[in-house]
Amino acid sequence: MMSERAYFPRRELAESIAKQLLSPSLLGGAAPGLFLAAPRRKGKSTFLRRDLSPALEQEGTLVLYVDLWANLDTSPAELIAGVIARALAKHQSTLAKLANASGISKVKIQNVEFTIDRIGKTAGATLSDALQELHSLARKPIVFIIDEAQHVVTADKNMTVMAALKAARDALNSTGDNLYLVMSGSDRDKLLRLVHGTGAPFFGATIHTLPDLGKDYVAYAAGAVVRVHPALEIDNARLAAIFDRYEHRPEFFEQDIGAAISPLAGSPEGFIERLERLATERELVRDAVYAATFDDLSSLQKAIVAELAVPRAGAPRLFTKEALARYSQATKKKIQAGQARSAVEQLRDRDPPLIWKSDRGDYAFEDTGFSRWFQTTFGNSP
Ligand SMILES: Nc1ncnc2c1ncn2[C@@H]1O[C@H](COP(=O)(O)OP(=O)(O)OP(=O)(O)O)[C@@H](O)[C@H]1O
Ligand SMILES: [Mg+2]
Repeated sequence: MMSERAYFPRRELAESIAKQLLSPSLLGGAAPGLFLAAPRRKGKSTFLRRDLSPALEQEGTLVLYVDLWANLDTSPAELIAGVIARALAKHQSTLAKLANASGISKVKIQNVEFTIDRIGKTAGATLSDALQELHSLARKPIVFIIDEAQHVVTADKNMTVMAALKAARDALNSTGDNLYLVMSGSDRDKLLRLVHGTGAPFFGATIHTLPDLGKDYVAYAAGAVVRVHPALEIDNARLAAIFDRYEHRPEFFEQDIGAAISPLAGSPEGFIERLERLATERELVRDAVYAATFDDLSSLQKAIVAELAVPRAGAPRLFTKEALARYSQATKKKIQAGQARSAVEQLRDRDPPLIWKSDRGDYAFEDTGFSRWFQTTFGNSP
């Protein structure tokens, strides 16, 4: 396996989440499962793979992990089935050989052989059968971590996969807590659609927020700086304030620390000022991109963006009579629903898309930073 880059481990958080997830439910194992949300690039996948998975394994479970965004060419259904099939193959010696020889395409379950991309799609061997078989081979509870689970919401046929997973969970858990599902996603709104509303496969489940990396992470970063310049004294509070300006995202923060600490950038004493300047540059770049994106829009598109950005009670409804009246007022033209619809389509077709729609018809910003920029720039009424 390729060695991974250094990171700040969150073992305590992982251990407590693992313990809570696996502790017997008071209500008789009603719904073992966890929904975890956090905005983009805040370290969800890292936490799930490097902290939570080992913590769950430590507790004696078999952990399966799939990132539904890691490979956009493959459907969520196939990705999910593939992970189960590979785990099965590991536990079935003949299949393990086959896997080494040619990659796995077929799995035998209860003496029925089928191709992995059929799991959950055809009658016969179902997702439930596959997981049941895996459970009986592994002889331990299974935790299935589905990263970027909200991705399934975009295509309704994949909601079928979620419904199949839920059915599998219910089937396996009828004889004890044998299957736990952990779902994570970068868009709370989208993830919500898996748990809210009629027909939502995990109706009623709560979505938790993965805590941001905080003071202890900043202390870890300060430690790394001091290892390079042992004489340098770092004000952790000041460094934490800078990390805030990176919106608690470690990637550019660490990259800029690297740039600011470089001997080529200047003397070690100037480190923190240099980092502050780099933070300002990052903010300017981010905001300039948002501003340019917004400027580029037609007046109707702008009005729609405003409609979506201004918080109102309930899910944003873009084509109500009131919304159309607001578009008409903003554009000084009588806007019909059809025009508004095609403007919304254009906003969705941009690359990257500005707004996002589920099969169920709700809309949200693709990048939550955009709505933050909009609100700070225009307040709540442009
Ligand atoms: N605990 C950590 N310590 C140091 N760096 C981290 C940590 N967690 C994440 N990172 C870094 O932050 C970046 C984003 O991490 P990761 O891919 O885990 O986030 P994510 O929330 O899953 O992102 P995405 O929304 O793109 O899926 C990566 O460069 C990763 O190495
Ligand atoms: Mg991720």
